[in-house]
Amino acid sequence: MNPSAALFHKDYHELPKETKEEMRQLLQRLMELTGANAGGHSVFHDDMFVWFRNLFFTTDPKFDEACGSLDFVLRARLWRLYTLCWACVQSLRHEGSIVDIGTYDGKALEVVLRYAQPKRLVMAYDFFDEPPEESRKRDHGPELWEKVKERLKPWDAVVHKGDVTKFLWTFPQKIAFCQIDLNDAEAESKVFPAVYERMTPGGIVVFDDYGFARYRNSALAHQKYLEGKEQILELPTGQGLFIKARDTLHAETGTMPSSPRRYGRRGLPFTITLRQDRASPINL
Ligand SMILES: C[S@@+](CC[C@H](N)C(=O)[O-])C[C@H]1O[C@@H](n2cnc3c(N)ncnc32)[C@H](O)[C@@H]1O
Repeated sequence: MNPSAALFHKDYHELPKETKEEMRQLLQRLMELTGANAGGHSVFHDDMFVWFRNLFFTTDPKFDEACGSLDFVLRARLWRLYTLCWACVQSLRHEGSIVDIGTYDGKALEVVLRYAQPKRLVMAYDFFDEPPEESRKRDHGPELWEKVKERLKPWDAVVHKGDVTKFLWTFPQKIAFCQIDLNDAEAESKVFPAVYERMTPGGIVVFDDYGFARYRNSALAHQKYLEGKEQILELPTGQGLFIKARDTLHAETGTMPSSPRRYGRRGLPFTITLRQDRASPINL
């Protein structure tokens, strides 16, 4: 599966017309010179240009099959999509559900589920209709929720419609894999701590916008929450990759964070669960 090139990043559209045209021509020429997106060593998509690479994801037959006849827009985000597929498969080694926060039309999640074939609870969250302006896309509207439910039916996905920050209590008790893609720092900063608390060790979160300057405030909010805990890796795709650790020593002091602990008779520490989450309701 070869990527497609697109310049649809919002920041690009805000550039002066002449600058946009110059950039387009320059990139076009670079693509011609390197044979980008033609099955070689170079690709231009996902707001990045790379060359002299292996690009294994472009020749993974399993990924190809999961993608099916992928539309142009998703092929312009192919490496990001592959990151999600990889992360979901890795996380299946650990206990917990799959949670997608900011699902939009569900097409990306559908590819991930086809690739990973999880036998897990899958939960998806979005406004579907009337999103905030920053995250509005072409297919948002009153019919989108039904369409997404239909699309995700093969995985019995539970698809929540509405402001996810009001539904944090519906998150599954154990999360193995989660994508967060809300394009909204305030909402993401409420969502991530609730996800973090429920993640099983080894579980993975992919932040879609972590590396994009436009969403810097989301990244800063996540960094602040994670002070003294595990850190997020900024990927060249613009995503952020987070892996929940088994037990988190404070990075600088090498001591355990001051979370409530009890000690057994031999002094061996074991963590106590502070609160029982309510069971996730099915459909709202
Ligand atoms: C960039 S889009 C997600 C794209 C999607 N992850 C994909 O791969 O195609 C961001 C989505 O977040 C949703 N969103 C933003 N804030 C939200 C909130 N507070 N609650 C629920 N959904 C929200 C928007 O409706 C929008 O569909």
